[in-house]
Amino acid sequence: MPNTIPVITIDGPAASGKGSIAQKVAATLSFHYLDSGKIYRALAVAANKRQISAPDTAKLIALTQELTTDPQQLHLLQRDPTIVSPPVGQQASQIAKNPALRQLLIPLQRGLRQMPGLVADGRDMGSVIFPDATVKVFLTADLAIRAERRLIQLQNNGIYAKITDVCEDLAQRDQTDRGRAVSPLTPPAGALHIDSTQQSITDIVKNVIRAYHNAVFIPPSAN
Ligand code: C5P
Repeated sequence: MPNTIPVITIDGPAASGKGSIAQKVAATLSFHYLDSGKIYRALAVAANKRQISAPDTAKLIALTQELTTDPQQLHLLQRDPTIVSPPVGQQASQIAKNPALRQLLIPLQRGLRQMPGLVADGRDMGSVIFPDATVKVFLTADLAIRAERRLIQLQNNGIYAKITDVCEDLAQRDQTDRGRAVSPLTPPAGALHIDSTQQSITDIVKNVIRAYHNAVFIPPSAN
């Protein structure tokens, strides 16, 4: 039976504006919101606390199994003050290469597809997690712009960094995410490509909502 609950997926490289746009689209349509990157980041925070490194697959899998069955612990980790930091992003990117771990996270993510709908952002939302999404967006932006936006976001979280370091961090993470064997960062088939370098968030949100309405609009019968 096909799942009829609508889903809008927004994938793209780090700091392309996915989160801001996805949250605004979700709020406008009164849909649920999934920040899938936060799950990988929470795993990285938990792995740090237990001194588990990315190559230690067995411990990492056990940790993932534990967290996917303990929503309260996962929720707490997602509120950890280090969650937005660049080192946690890098660790999340290393952890995210693990195919078995990604497999374990599928039911958790698909379970969030609930009425009246879901907006999900990440790297493999349209390609792997919700291949039947109502609308798929692939969002990009120039590296320099993404670095500036991430620098401001970090400052708002009390984290101070140099623009050159932020730039290097994003470029390195994109390379890892694009180059991995499983669920690499790549535009899903049928995605609407949007470059946010020159466009305002408000305009992009309007475009995504228009694309959603066009996708679900059933034209009145001609007779
Ligand atoms: O989106 P965010 O930058 O917070 O994600 C952190 C890392 O988690 C990414 O660099 C990527 O390696 C991983 N990730 C992923 N698949 C997703 C979302 C995030 O592999 N759907």
